Amino acid sequence: MRLYVNIDHVATVRQARRTDEPDPVTAAALAEAGGADGITAHLREDRRHIQDTDVERLASSVRTVLNLELATSPDIVALARRLRPFQATLVPERREEITTEGGLDLSTPHPKLREAIVALQEAGIRVSLFIDPEPHAIEAAAALGVPAVELHTGRYSHGGDPASLAGLAAATLHAKSLGLAVHAGHGLTYRNVTPVAAIAGIEELNIGHSIVSRALTVGMQAAVEEMRLLVGPSR
Ligand code: PXP
Repeated sequence: MRLYVNIDHVATVRQARRTDEPDPVTAAALAEAGGADGITAHLREDRRHIQDTDVERLASSVRTVLNLELATSPDIVALARRLRPFQATLVPERREEITTEGGLDLSTPHPKLREAIVALQEAGIRVSLFIDPEPHAIEAAAALGVPAVELHTGRYSHGGDPASLAGLAAATLHAKSLGLAVHAGHGLTYRNVTPVAAIAGIEELNIGHSIVSRALTVGMQAAVEEMRLLVGPSR
């Protein structure tokens, strides 16, 4: 199983102060040191966390592979074509959403999506489509000629639907039978990842928020100890 670590929320903390720390590029290198097989970053249209310069720096510093998540905005597709990450994962975007809330809607033809796929593939970038684990979405993705899909694990991770794990396994089989490589992600945590990682046929997991959250927790003591030394002993 490949583990791709999404470092967006390192940038979220930085953007809260518009300063230069924490640096998502440093976090990416540490994620690689921890065993990540790839680094994922989402350059959103509203630039709420990752910035264009982050993607530029990640493209030249990531030692594993870079998976750039993007919507079909022409300027971001152009940036991807110039920087040529190993993989581009096309996702839907709505400005008011807190995070990517559903997979791409492939129920009707989307010329912009088709154009983005062609433009990215012409640049030699592997294209994956973020979709809900539903038969019609899988079939539509296969018809678009992409090599891979990322199944949205939100229904499983939000815990409301007992059939959702079996649904992910069935969607994986379906996608593989159509020749698609299967990735998965969204809302996966230390508590819920194991059954998804055990689904035969899923080859890549993209995990972000939970890993960044855990890093804050396990790193807090060391961070305060370092500041304690600078500030001096308590009186
Ligand atoms: N995969 C895709 C396509 C995403 O948009 C996201 C969220 O940016 C993730 C995976 C990671 O989700 P999470 O941060 O919940 O682990």
